[in-house]
Amino acid sequence: MEPQVRPMRSLLTGIGGYLPEQVVTNDALAARVDTSDAWIRERTGIQQRHLSLPHETTAYMGVRAARAALAQAGAKPADVDLVILATSTPDQAFPATALRVQAELGIKRGSGFDISAACSGFVYALSIADAMIKSGQVTGALVIGSECYSRILNWQDRGTCVLFGDGAGAVFLQAGPVSADRLTARGILSTHLHADGALGDILYVDGAVGQPTRPGTLVMNGREVFRHAVTKLAEVVDEALNANGLGRRDVDWLVPHQANLRIIEAMGRKLGLPSERVVVTVDRHANTSAASIPLALADASADGRLQRGHLVLMEALGGGLTWGSALVRL
Ligand SMILES: CC(C)(COP(=O)(O)OP(=O)(O)OC[C@H]1O[C@@H](n2cnc3c(N)ncnc32)[C@H](O)[C@@H]1OP(=O)(O)O)[C@@H](O)C(=O)NCCC(=O)NCCS
Repeated sequence: MEPQVRPMRSLLTGIGGYLPEQVVTNDALAARVDTSDAWIRERTGIQQRHLSLPHETTAYMGVRAARAALAQAGAKPADVDLVILATSTPDQAFPATALRVQAELGIKRGSGFDISAACSGFVYALSIADAMIKSGQVTGALVIGSECYSRILNWQDRGTCVLFGDGAGAVFLQAGPVSADRLTARGILSTHLHADGALGDILYVDGAVGQPTRPGTLVMNGREVFRHAVTKLAEVVDEALNANGLGRRDVDWLVPHQANLRIIEAMGRKLGLPSERVVVTVDRHANTSAASIPLALADASADGRLQRGHLVLMEALGGGLTWGSALVRL
């Protein structure tokens, strides 16, 4: 007899976040670099960011976000058999920061690894975890985005250092049975990933462990990134809806990567969503790269905006270039 593999889908059962205690306002930055609160707010919507203290490492923040996600799911470390952590700022070249988190949480089985896809890292990690759950390899996946960008910023470059913040967000995915109506049942409906390495030089870090310039700092051509973000994110939003035969009106929440309020608002307009249906944290968190989407999910979950049954569309673009989307019924 043929072995029967029961088809599974990934249910998003818990969301958590962690933000460093230190809050740095635009005015406080203006005392360090030649900028102003007015310029930063007008161009980006950012009002403040959280910057980590030395003890608030990528693993430290990831652990706290993951614990909160497990608590919301009513799950225990023993329920986890995969930890994927998306980051561009790992604490060490190896072991993977995911495994520092795994150890700290007391998870004893399964596997774990980091993935590097810059600001699209969370969507990439979600997609990988979803595929591993669907294939039956995994039953409980912690998907974490955790970043300490303050350690890779050039604090003399006002064009970039004002844009980023630190933090971590996490979700817990659990395998559940596939139901007859895949569109109304809970779970990840689809994920869509893209990359174009030929655009690697418009947003990058000019070093790494093993490079003479290590650890390197972030370099960005803001205008080029902006241009690609608006067109590629619009495409990937349509791709997610078309793949599921859904329309813009079906989306309850847009939870975009939080890089710039102008890009976020452009996506909201494209979907015809009222602004109160677009989750915005960039004003308070700035751009936390791979942590920004799960932190935005945590924000909207904590105050009761996100409810079970809601359809959430996530999208992100980052260095690489990488970009992608995920459509999830909570
Ligand atoms: C970064 C960004 C806000 C800059 O806005 P912009 O309108 O393109 O501004 P420019 O870079 O053209 O700079 C305009 C002027 O502001 C100045 N400027 C740049 N940063 C400044 C700052 N922090 N404070 C004050 N002035 C600043 C520039 O020097 C320039 O001055 P000049 O005209 O005298 O040369 C915008 O390009 C952006 O958001 N890009 C996308 C970035 C992004 O999303 N990155 C992350 C992707 S994951």
